[in-house]
Amino acid sequence: MCGIVGYLGSQGAYSILIQGLKRLEYRGYDSAGVALIDGTGSLNIHKAKGKVANLEQTAAAGNTDGLIGIAHTRWATHGEPNDINAHPHVSQSGNIALVHNGTIENYAVLKQLLCEQGYTFKSETDTEVLVQFIDYIHASSDCTLVDAVRETLLQVEGAYAIAVIEKNNPDRLIVARKSSPLVIGVGDGETFIASDATPIVGYADKVIYLKDNELAVIERDKAISIVSIDSNTPTKIDVQKLKLSLAQLEKGGYDTFMLKEIFEQPKTLRDCLRGRITDNGSRVVLSGVELNKETFLNAERITLVACGTSWHAALIGKRLIQDFCRIPVEVEYASEFRYSNPVLGPKDIVISISQSGETADTLAAIQIAREKGAFVYGVCNVVGASIPRNTDSGTYIHVGPEIGVASTKAFTGQVTVLTLLALAIGQLRGTADSDTVKSVCKSLMQLPEILEETLKCDPEVQKLSRIFTYAHNFLYLGRGYNYPTALEGALKLKEISYIHAEGYPAAEMKHGPIALIDHEMPSVIIAPSDSLYDKIISNVQQVKSRGGAVVAIVSRGNTAMNDIADFCIEIPEVPECLTPIVASIPLQLLAYYIAVGKGKNVDQPRNLAKSVTVE
Ligand code: G6P
Repeated sequence: MCGIVGYLGSQGAYSILIQGLKRLEYRGYDSAGVALIDGTGSLNIHKAKGKVANLEQTAAAGNTDGLIGIAHTRWATHGEPNDINAHPHVSQSGNIALVHNGTIENYAVLKQLLCEQGYTFKSETDTEVLVQFIDYIHASSDCTLVDAVRETLLQVEGAYAIAVIEKNNPDRLIVARKSSPLVIGVGDGETFIASDATPIVGYADKVIYLKDNELAVIERDKAISIVSIDSNTPTKIDVQKLKLSLAQLEKGGYDTFMLKEIFEQPKTLRDCLRGRITDNGSRVVLSGVELNKETFLNAERITLVACGTSWHAALIGKRLIQDFCRIPVEVEYASEFRYSNPVLGPKDIVISISQSGETADTLAAIQIAREKGAFVYGVCNVVGASIPRNTDSGTYIHVGPEIGVASTKAFTGQVTVLTLLALAIGQLRGTADSDTVKSVCKSLMQLPEILEETLKCDPEVQKLSRIFTYAHNFLYLGRGYNYPTALEGALKLKEISYIHAEGYPAAEMKHGPIALIDHEMPSVIIAPSDSLYDKIISNVQQVKSRGGAVVAIVSRGNTAMNDIADFCIEIPEVPECLTPIVASIPLQLLAYYIAVGKGKNVDQPRNLAKSVTVE
């Protein structure tokens, strides 16, 4: 949700910033901009509505010199996407340029104050208020710019990661964060800053993850200094090794990141499972559970909090934990949970699930859970992100960077980790019998090969997608473990093809959505051979008898659906609790090919961002 990049060093900043913006474009792509200070001390700003490529075209006609600069790719919150609202924003004096990710909640009050002081505004953004306020404090109180930035941030309510440069000082970059991520890349005589580590890969292999409420001053040929915004006292600097490679950030021969990520799933699940099942396949070993045995033994309730696709994984997690651990489980949207005055105590475990580890609502939910004394466990993908740093313990899904905005490999990774977690807790509490654990472990270890087999449905799904490219509505139905799979399948289609799709528990359909069924409303039924298979057959009959087309996802060799459904896609048979992982593959492919057939940009669907760091 908005990406920021900055550079200070001895190379031309512009190309590094553009390259960084392209790697961050998944965070927002409404507009982009760059600010550079050249050798003559002039501050040059270039901005353009739309993608970073548009910015490159605009900037080509102007001055892009300079060894220092900041840049931004925007996901609009305050003010429509256009050139004026694009960042960087510049103070009225023309001296200070700033980029911002987050939202300033009290911007209207600050703006009013500035207007009374004679400030005028060009844009509708909260960010312009921020830069003007810094200018105002700097000009009116004779303090340094660093102090003015800090003083301003003390007045601000909301979330921010910012980078600031000053026209008169081409040797200094000021950055700060609260509730929005910011990483500093430490190179040899050069420093990079970015919303996440991806723009830094290939330039520097050491990083500092700025903590909440910290302000860093980066000066040419000097050591980085970091202070607490509240107390203005130095904080400990923790330099870490960056463990991302360039290959992980490239498309690897695929047309899109999304397709690459769908096809990567056999490998990513292998990485996700590595070292987590004993060699003899009899037990799950998760250090997060091993190190907190007492907490898991004494827990009286588990609450799963998440947003988007991660929330769908949480719904599957609920079933898994209930089945293997026999403990009450609740699932909450993080955005609702945070304002629900939840009843929590020391015997509660809250599990937050997040691919990015930066989702603002999920972060806020876990902060509340910790304040109320619950033990907070994180299931996250991005190593070192805010959520894993703010949880008591957790498990990484280790599926590598997910760049396509619509989540695919992170979802299957999350469900895999939740399966491992449920088995580990169940083993510990004695609620999962050892034969069941062994049998699920065996199938988990075979999952990479099973997914390779499943992906062979690709040509068939591609062909099928052509029939449905022009549908206006879709219904996705599933039961039990696969009701959340239906929700996720529908979400995938909505996100990238803009076709309206609804996921529904198959048996609930007769209480409403059945009214929608006609020959123009296809239904996708997730019907593997599980404990509810016979029940779902009759739900499919209800759709068919009302003229709706049916695409059924069925277990290989199960022919009963052949006579009822219009199209059947077969998936390998796996234990019931693993069917959501396998059934998701054809659903991801179906959404993908329908969207491609409609000519949509699947990696960067309109209005969406990969990482939602605002409320
Ligand atoms: C955004 C993304 C979704 C994602 C959701 C939660 O909406 O577009 O793909 O599921 O945020 O993100 P998280 O990083 O917390 O899993």
